[in-house]
Amino acid sequence: MRILSVIGTRPEAIKMAPVLDRLARTPGIESVVCTTGQHASMLQQVLDLFGLHVDHDLQVMVQGQTLNGLCARVFERLDPVLERVCPDRVLVHGDTTTAMAASLAAFHRRIPVGHVEAGLRTGTLSQPWPEEMNRRVVDVVSDQLFAPTEGARQNLLTENLGGRIHVTGNTVIDALHSMVQRLETDAVLRARLDANLPALDPSRRMVLVTGHRRENFGPAMADICHAICALACRGDIELVYPVHLNPQVHEPVLRILQGQAHVHLIEPQDYAGFVRLMQLASVVLTDSGGVQEEAPALGKPVLVMREVTERPEAVQAGTARLVGASKERIEKEVSLLLDDAAQYQRMAHSVNPYGDGHASERIVAILCGQDMEPFRPETTLPGHFTTRS
Ligand code: UD1
Ligand code: UDP
Repeated sequence: MRILSVIGTRPEAIKMAPVLDRLARTPGIESVVCTTGQHASMLQQVLDLFGLHVDHDLQVMVQGQTLNGLCARVFERLDPVLERVCPDRVLVHGDTTTAMAASLAAFHRRIPVGHVEAGLRTGTLSQPWPEEMNRRVVDVVSDQLFAPTEGARQNLLTENLGGRIHVTGNTVIDALHSMVQRLETDAVLRARLDANLPALDPSRRMVLVTGHRRENFGPAMADICHAICALACRGDIELVYPVHLNPQVHEPVLRILQGQAHVHLIEPQDYAGFVRLMQLASVVLTDSGGVQEEAPALGKPVLVMREVTERPEAVQAGTARLVGASKERIEKEVSLLLDDAAQYQRMAHSVNPYGDGHASERIVAILCGQDMEPFRPETTLPGHFTTRS
């Protein structure tokens, strides 16, 4: 069976790395990997770190790309690859333009589509935008739906879709698990990462920040930056912010935050570097999807700069809280958490509602036609990935 996996962005590469690794080692499967190149350097960091081999690179990224331009380039450049490779199945991940366009391109050629990380929903098309729509489109055209959680399965059932649903756990926990192990065993890697850390005052707690969502572009992004400024003025914390390369993020972040004492603006980190930063952080402040899944597994409280989330499990488990994107609310919620030791302890417990480290094993077994026990959160080992420094 020839499987063509199509990835394009940093999170897709991180979350598909364990699946691609397993596909490559499975007898009877010919694994072909295509990157759209929706992301350039941020994708390359992941490919290098995980040693992923790419067979086709569509190189679609242009600076400040539009969604329609991006979509058009993926359709145009992927179609000849589909024709040449003639796969038995296309595998896509998540909710990006790459996933949406690649799944439609495969559908147009009557190639079956498998969707890894199917069924996440906020129920609101504008949040996250355009990802909620992207994910729904991929789910509609897929015949194999790999739902990470029971909640995602329920979302899919409500929509009466044609695909077969399997609850597999999220492959991000497989990737995180392998990276935590690598950091524990590879002293050279760890030393390299620690040498490259920004100069942090060891007497201060560290808040790790990421932010890049389109619905937060403009005034909300400025508000987030002003909240970070205000928090830096507390005098007892350091904020570390690996800045996403999207100009809509990069420009306001540098304009407002560059030179601010105790705010460390750094380049996007490779996955090893970012996992290390999460381990060192006291609090994670983010609007990212993947980080909402990883930080709880590391026992780190997550404040989510969104009004709604398609990943409610960590909120239900009490390790994540939605704080929106207004300056006052972010400042208040981060301060509350830092100043209230009891509340901090309640949020800082490790939970793995998203996976048990065996998601890719389940996905590949299902692709090979085998039956698999679904992922159940209670089968996870509490604290399994907690690595405190
Ligand atoms: C995309 C995804 C989003 C995902 C995010 C992960 C869509 C619509 N959005 O958003 O779901 O959460 O990736 O990070 O698919 N850029 C570079 N180098 C890079 C990567 C990006 O310069 O390596 C700059 C380019 O100017 C590019 C811009 O960022 O045009 C935007 O990239 P794009 O993939 O369109 O959007 P993201 O905001 O990264
Ligand atoms: N990440 C990384 N380097 C960074 C910031 C994030 O490797 O500097 C990882 C993070 O651990 C997570 C993924 O990138 O696995 C999330 O990507 P992003 O926030 O860009 O996208 P989203 O998950 O919101 O789609």
